[in-house]
Amino acid sequence: MRGEKDVVNKGGAARPKKLYLIDPGEKGTRHSIADWGFYPDHGRLSTAAVHQVASKRVQRYRQETQVEVLVEYSKTFLPKMPDNHFDWICLDSTHSYEGIRAELLVLRTKVKSGAIVAGDGWQDDPAHPHASTAKAGSEALERREYDPLVTLPALK
Ligand SMILES: C[S@@+](CC[C@H](N)C(=O)[O-])C[C@H]1O[C@@H](n2cnc3c(N)ncnc32)[C@H](O)[C@@H]1O
Repeated sequence: MRGEKDVVNKGGAARPKKLYLIDPGEKGTRHSIADWGFYPDHGRLSTAAVHQVASKRVQRYRQETQVEVLVEYSKTFLPKMPDNHFDWICLDSTHSYEGIRAELLVLRTKVKSGAIVAGDGWQDDPAHPHASTAKAGSEALERREYDPLVTLPALK
């Protein structure tokens, strides 16, 4: 949740009416914020503290954008949303094959036609720890569940 200021600050012409920031932030599970390095200060920041920082920061930059910062998993949040709802999605959550596959599947009905589904951490090297992102993404493109737009090399 800690890169959110870029989403609202650099949105420019694409500034959203409404922005949802979703992170379960549960300590002790594989994908908890505690396991995500500098995001939760290497486990020293609690879920509540990270949530508070993200909420405060996003309020500072949001301008007219209405923002909800939710402590929730994508797998519980996305199915609750109406169909044809999102203009733009950024996936940067589990980095696991199953997680991304599940997100991409449910999103097919949740995004509007022509919406952009972006994600972080595309790694073509199959030996990379986050290689599952590219695998799940490529498979969805091969199945023609999504149309390709662009892939950019991940920075790390
Ligand atoms: C690499 S961090 C990215 C954080 C954020 N995108 C940013 O740039 O500040 C991955 C985050 O995904 C969260 N996460 C893990 N599993 C998730 C899930 N199923 N649904 C939503 N978020 C999840 C983790 O708690 C972690 O904070």
